[in-house]
Amino acid sequence: MSFWSRHQVLEKNSIILIVCIILVIAVGGIVEIAPLFYLKSTIEKVEGMRPYTPLELAGRNVYVREGCYLCHTQMVRPLRDEVERYGHYSLAAESMYDHPHQWGSKRTGPDLARVGGKYSDEWHVAHLIKPQNVVPQSVMPGYKFLAETPVDPANVAGHLRTSRVVGVPYTDDQIANAVADLKAQADPDNGDVDALTKRYPKAVARNFDGKPGLPTEMDALVAYLQMLGTLVDFKLYNDKANLR
Ligand code: HEC
Repeated sequence: MSFWSRHQVLEKNSIILIVCIILVIAVGGIVEIAPLFYLKSTIEKVEGMRPYTPLELAGRNVYVREGCYLCHTQMVRPLRDEVERYGHYSLAAESMYDHPHQWGSKRTGPDLARVGGKYSDEWHVAHLIKPQNVVPQSVMPGYKFLAETPVDPANVAGHLRTSRVVGVPYTDDQIANAVADLKAQADPDNGDVDALTKRYPKAVARNFDGKPGLPTEMDALVAYLQMLGTLVDFKLYNDKANLR
């Protein structure tokens, strides 16, 4: 049998063909995927990224619990129409502290990766209570109860500690002050905002839900939405990465 006619063995025997296909694909897969686990450049270091504040993290928990990711993505792809609509494409580093990431896979509503600062807090509160109040044709459901549900401070430090186990670099100082930071960010008049911004640069402290008192889940969710996409200064990033 000549060298080339040996290929008949594969063509005539489907089991051998399947085994060989799996072997070939496995080699390709290993060559492409394995380096990602040890290459330092897989997630480039980007200035400005920091772990979530306790209030933002609580808001992120609400986002995950309510399944917002089923209708919204948090991933701007490097395609012209997306970049023109939403802003700079997403960087891996922007989700490096997300466990699990919120990239999503379906856009019933728009991408939210850069929604921070796009609207006022009042807009978000009105929208989350009843989206049709501000966008009459919206199919998004309302989340009125968030405004009446306080964030349970008992879980906050524990979540920071758990995040540290999976690699988010929370310090002992941040964990010890988690509840104080949570309250200070949602009620800046009665908390130490300087200490908060020292621990979490660029953290914005405001009464997000417009109501005094203990932080509600509305405070937390709006704080989270308002920080999305605001940490990285893309002018600096583009200069450094030679994108301009
Ligand atoms: C059933 C699908 C659906 C779910 C679930 C959903 N949304 Fe939406 N969302 C939409 C649609 C559609 C729009 C566009 C119309 C509008 O603004 O209401 C939207 C718009 C938004 C906007 C405005 C975005 C922009 O750039 O204009 C924000 C912010 C938002 N949603 C947040 C959330 C949050 C937070 C949750 C979870 C608590 C959530 N959504 C759950 C469908 C959904």
